Amino acid sequence: MGSQEVVVIGGSNSEHIAIRVSRITGVDYGFVYKRFFPDGELYVRIECDVSGRSVVYINSLQPSVNSSIIETLYTLYTLRELGARKLYAIVPYMAYARQDERFKPGEVVSIRVLAELFKTIDLDGLYTFDMHLHRISDPRELFGSRFYNLSAVKAIAEYLVGRNLVSRDTVVVGPDEEAEQWASRLAGYLGGVEYTVLEKERISDEEVRVTTKTGVSLAGKRVVIVDDIISTGGTMVETINLLKKLGAKEIIVTCIHPVLAGNALYKIMRTNPLDIVCTDTILSPVSKVSIAPLVRDYVLKAIMGTR
Ligand code: R5P
Repeated sequence: MGSQEVVVIGGSNSEHIAIRVSRITGVDYGFVYKRFFPDGELYVRIECDVSGRSVVYINSLQPSVNSSIIETLYTLYTLRELGARKLYAIVPYMAYARQDERFKPGEVVSIRVLAELFKTIDLDGLYTFDMHLHRISDPRELFGSRFYNLSAVKAIAEYLVGRNLVSRDTVVVGPDEEAEQWASRLAGYLGGVEYTVLEKERISDEEVRVTTKTGVSLAGKRVVIVDDIISTGGTMVETINLLKKLGAKEIIVTCIHPVLAGNALYKIMRTNPLDIVCTDTILSPVSKVSIAPLVRDYVLKAIMGTR
């Protein structure tokens, strides 16, 4: 398939990724005009020709989580109506994945509803990155068989290695048991360095208690913390405070999705870490690693039959 037969489009939260993907692949970038009416309703107009073409639409569901869900679904629905031959959605950050269970009677299991909404579009592929998977072991049970959960952990490792930020005695730390999937992989990509996970108890939306029961010695070590999401920053700050008490010499904070609600970044910066490294699944001042090359390698190349 030639690059003219494919068009990549960015939603409000991911234009930076879509433009970069277009630049590194030579695939056309398609413009979509958006504005809000005075009453807050969203207006969307697709300004490029999508009829008969394969369309790759990229939009993260943060920031402005609820309006970005509407924007994403409206745009995808219309791309289908306008005759896209194949339609692929890349949602770099899948919101609501932490509400994956009815914890209290009557609660909405948000991720299940969101998955049903995506299924109404009949996409040829739905891709996300490092989705928060705790109680859901297989997201395809929710989103269907054309759902792909990609990972940006290797790209973070390459950033750290490329800047000489790791050595043989660096230790990778995950703030809680769920973070083991990221900590173990990051440690592997960093050349098989040691890793450990801490124990976290959530007290409220913003407050957590982090403790350790493992015997890994952190005294004098450079520690790389890895988590999937930094939201309020509560988990990161508590983890950094504990690591300092345990004698860590230097701390590097990493995460895939910098949600960074409120003053989260400021709270983390006040602890004075050596570096803060996140991806651009959500654009932020610490989005130092772009997922655009991964979108090229795992999505565009597959669609265009060049891998
Ligand atoms: C939840 O378990 C996630 O993996 C993150 O640890 C969590 O979302 C971070 O939230 P916060 O920054 O609000 O502590």
